[in-house]
Amino acid sequence: MAERRVLLRGGTVVDGTGSRKADVLVVGSVIGEVAADLGAGPRGALVLDAEGCVVTPGLVDVHTHLREPGGEESETIESGARAAALGGYTAVVAMPNTTPAADSADVVRYVLDQARSACCHVQPAGCITVGREGKVLAPMAEMAALGVRLFTDDGTGVQDPSLMRRALEYASSLGAVVAQHCEDASLAGAGCMNEGEWSSRLGLPGRPSLSEDVMVVRDLALARLTGARVHLMHLSSARSVEAVRQAKAAGLANVSAEATPHHLSLTEALLGSYDPVFKVNPPLRTPADVEALRHGLSDGTIDVIGTDHAPHPPEAKQVPMCEAAPGMIGLETALSVVLTDLGLPIERVLALMSWQPARLVGLTESQGGPIVPGAAANICVIDLARRWTVDPARLASRSRNTPFAGRALTGRSRHTLYAGEPVVVGEEAQR
Ligand code: DOR
Repeated sequence: MAERRVLLRGGTVVDGTGSRKADVLVVGSVIGEVAADLGAGPRGALVLDAEGCVVTPGLVDVHTHLREPGGEESETIESGARAAALGGYTAVVAMPNTTPAADSADVVRYVLDQARSACCHVQPAGCITVGREGKVLAPMAEMAALGVRLFTDDGTGVQDPSLMRRALEYASSLGAVVAQHCEDASLAGAGCMNEGEWSSRLGLPGRPSLSEDVMVVRDLALARLTGARVHLMHLSSARSVEAVRQAKAAGLANVSAEATPHHLSLTEALLGSYDPVFKVNPPLRTPADVEALRHGLSDGTIDVIGTDHAPHPPEAKQVPMCEAAPGMIGLETALSVVLTDLGLPIERVLALMSWQPARLVGLTESQGGPIVPGAAANICVIDLARRWTVDPARLASRSRNTPFAGRALTGRSRHTLYAGEPVVVGEEAQR
């Protein structure tokens, strides 16, 4: 059978090397040709309209909860990968806080098996500690041997500093990244929103930003000591951004930082609705924190935008705030929210959402690289002018817990090619 040919026609290619107007011909699973005008392409080619669009390496999410195994009512690897593809992603890192947790080669192997038929690359992350209990280190080497490159107990942070130190030393010998959920549990307590004026007014227990700040400062010190690769997940507070900025300015190069679209665009005031859809850990914070995160994005303190896509079923959300599960979905809205709310140049957006995350998790061979002949065809086509309104019922995720329901957004991914296959065409999933 002849190899599939797909022509992306009329777009502007934007990658880590710059931008130029060009058509892109994909042959099989690789890019065949990139040139100013490829006409109608070879006979039999599927022509996808990219007129007025940006053609770019697919987005890469280093922070996705796919819930499989154990939470299939919220999401599966298949449904989550479809949501990712619709959002313009061609790779996601699957968080290990599943049931059972991905703290062993067996569970990692299971995720890899399920991922084989997914419509984007699914890279399993492994736990730092057994059962994410923060007591005993997980067998990281066994998981690394299967391709795990990022370890995290996300959902909770590693509380014990000496265990974290050993985790960093161990991971460093494996060339892996340790990704920390930065919240000191004793300071966070049972808080269910940011601690401050709003929590007092609403009578809800608060989770102080101090809880994040102290863990960030601690882990920066541990990163300095061990030289290990530390990734600070979903930063939410102005002080933690400043701590990372200072550490980087002082020469600490083995640390990266992440922010989520929700922390970059929403504030604690939304909790005034008492709607648990806005409950997330770390919590939505103040306008000053949002401003500081945005500044961190533009000056390079924050290296990646991760979604922290965290699906939950209605029964986990439609309960009183303090009992509700924390987390919000984000794969299908991340790019649009970033484009609509942050005012960043498209090159910067794509660095934060494609090539920098690809580099972080060592996926550069097939993800986030320049659009040139011979490269793997993991591509998304973005219509920057597209206006749309988020309708939770129309999302591909199995869950509906988006904080952006009803929001009017501008800019959306139109087509996604994964390993050369058009998995999303005209905003519609093809499988
Ligand atoms: O709000 C959150 N939900 N934060 C996390 O770190 C984990 C996530 C989840 O797994 O639901």
